[in-house]
Amino acid sequence: MTALRTSAVWTTAAALASDTAPFAIRAERASDVAAREALLDASFGEGRHARTCQRLRDGRAPAEGLAFSAIRNGRLIGTVRLWHVSAGGVPALVLGPLAVDASCRKLGVGAVLMSHALAAAKARGHGAVILRGDAAYYSRFGFTAAKTGELSLPGPFERDRLLALELRDGALNDAWGMIVPTGSKARRPRPRVAPPARTAATRAA
Ligand SMILES: CC(C)(COP(=O)(O)OP(=O)(O)OC[C@H]1O[C@@H](n2cnc3c(N)ncnc32)[C@H](O)[C@@H]1OP(=O)(O)O)[C@@H](O)C(=O)NCCC(=O)NCCS
Repeated sequence: MTALRTSAVWTTAAALASDTAPFAIRAERASDVAAREALLDASFGEGRHARTCQRLRDGRAPAEGLAFSAIRNGRLIGTVRLWHVSAGGVPALVLGPLAVDASCRKLGVGAVLMSHALAAAKARGHGAVILRGDAAYYSRFGFTAAKTGELSLPGPFERDRLLALELRDGALNDAWGMIVPTGSKARRPRPRVAPPARTAATRAA
C-alpha cells in the first residue's frame, strides 16, 4: 500500500478511498505510555518482556528523538522506537518494537512509521539500524541479513531474522561480535507524593 504525505499528516490510498480517518506520526510523549504498553501487550503478548531484544532495552531510554507514535482520531494506533547499541564495537541503533493496532493494519501505518523513523535516524547522523524480525516484512525497507552474519544477540535468536540496514554505506563493515546496549539509563517515573498540608506554622514561615 502506498502512503501519501500531506504536510505533517500521513494518509493512505486505502484511507482516502474508504473515508477512513487519516493518521499522524508524531514524537512519542510521556502521556503515551499506557496506550503504548497496552498496544504492545496486545501485539506481542505478556511474554514480550522475555524476548531477546528486550535485553537491549531493559532500563534504557530510547535514542534521543527516535521514538514515534501513530495517532488516529486522538488515539495511539502505532509505535516504533530505536535504541543505542554497540554492534561488536560499532555504534548502531536497534529498532523495535514496531506495532500497529490490529484494527488499523494494512493501511500503511507500519510502513509510514518505519520510513519516518529511518529518515529521522539518518538525519541525526546514525550509520546503521539493526532489528530482529521477518525479512518478508522488513526487506521492503532495505533490511537484509547481509551484514549481520558475524553479529549475535544476548539470548536466543534465529540467524535469518537478524537484519540490518546501513544508513551510511559500509557502516557495519567491521561489526563483529555481541550486540550490547549503550543507551542512557531510563529515568524512573517520579512517585506522586501529595504536597505537605499547610499548617499555621508553615503559613507563617
Ligand atoms: C507488522 C506490523 C507492524 C505491520 O503494520 P501495518 O500497519 O499493517 O503495515 P503496512 O500496512 O505498512 O503493511 C502491511 C503489509 O505487510 C504485510 N505484513 C505484515 N506483517 C508481516 C510479516 N510478519 N511478514 C510479511 N509480511 C507482513 C501485510 O500482510 C501487508 O501486506 P499487503 O500490503 O500485501 O496487504 C503489524 O502487522 C503488527 O503490529 N504486527 C504485530 C506486531 C509485529 O509482528 N511487529 C513486527 C515484529 S517482526
